Amino acid sequence: MKNIKKRKMAEGAWASNNNDLLVGAELSSSGHINISPCFVVKNVSTRKSGESLFPDKESFCENRRLLGCVGIACRTSDRKLFNPATLQVQKMAAVGRFACGIAHDFNNILTAIIGYQTLLQPRLKDDAKACFYAAQVTTLSQKATNLTQHLLSFVRKDSVSPDLVDLNDVVMNIVSFLKSLIGNTIELTTELCGEALPVLAVSSQIEQTLMNLVTNASDAMPQGGSLVVKTGITRAACKIEGMHSHVHIGPYAYFSISDTGHGMDEKTKLRLFEPNFTTKREAKGTGLGLATVFGVVQQHNGRIYVNSRLGEGSTFRICLPLFKDEETES
Ligand SMILES: Nc1ncnc2c1ncn2[C@@H]1O[C@H](COP(=O)(O)OP(=O)(O)O)[C@@H](O)[C@H]1O
Ligand SMILES: [Mg+2]
Repeated sequence: MKNIKKRKMAEGAWASNNNDLLVGAELSSSGHINISPCFVVKNVSTRKSGESLFPDKESFCENRRLLGCVGIACRTSDRKLFNPATLQVQKMAAVGRFACGIAHDFNNILTAIIGYQTLLQPRLKDDAKACFYAAQVTTLSQKATNLTQHLLSFVRKDSVSPDLVDLNDVVMNIVSFLKSLIGNTIELTTELCGEALPVLAVSSQIEQTLMNLVTNASDAMPQGGSLVVKTGITRAACKIEGMHSHVHIGPYAYFSISDTGHGMDEKTKLRLFEPNFTTKREAKGTGLGLATVFGVVQQHNGRIYVNSRLGEGSTFRICLPLFKDEETES
């Protein structure tokens, strides 16, 4: 510890005084040095040039203090190669800036589309079908405007306040749009719960989640298949595989998307929600769909459950805390 000069080289990395890089150590606000387990690597004896050197977290931490350091990871000049977390943060920041720029331009185009549509509408009054099509243009353009606003606020980290909505209504309102997203070889059916599903949610974010999940389901069924959008109530701790270790016991409203597509292998399931993770060819996948879903669900204090088997299809279930009106309850 004593030979580590606390000079910050990059997020999560500190340099020692001989200008080498100690990978994976970071200074907490209380002045302690934490070892980040994501940097834990093999045994020191297997070290090659460029590998970091912590055999395990416990060897170095006592009361979260760094006790010693058995070696040095790599030269600072090489640090970019060995700090995946820093690279990831930089990459996400670049994606954010890029998305922000696109969202701005897109918004301007959408404003023009809505404007022209408003001018067009009165000229179509004798043609009921044309009027309906034109109205659809406005509705969908407004939906797209909403989404770009949320993308902008997501990037800028604005907080968006949730409303009390019925999850059934949110799903119903977007079903016809979801049908337009998928090919006509896929049959989409809905099984909506008969009870009201009050939740505190940002509807457009939930719609975004549905769109991302339905797009993935559709991509998994290139030869066609069936897709079921379901809603219901669960007391959490769903019996299917969960990705959250702490499951709150309490009523949740849920919606699920089930497909009869190619499913996923274990390796894919492990990396599913990682930003930039995709198994699709470059033009098709961005690897941001499920990362966005994850972000939205976290913001809603919700849970995601995934059940998938290779060759047998997948189910994504999103659970959101069911709203309880405490005043009317007591
Ligand atoms: N319904 C599904 N069926 C099979 N694989 C899926 C499904 N949903 C997601 N995946 C897998 O998860 C990966 C990440 O999804 P996502 O974050 O939406 O990125 P993208 O769709 O751009 O690849 C996909 O590339 C795919 O391998
Ligand atoms: Mg996707």
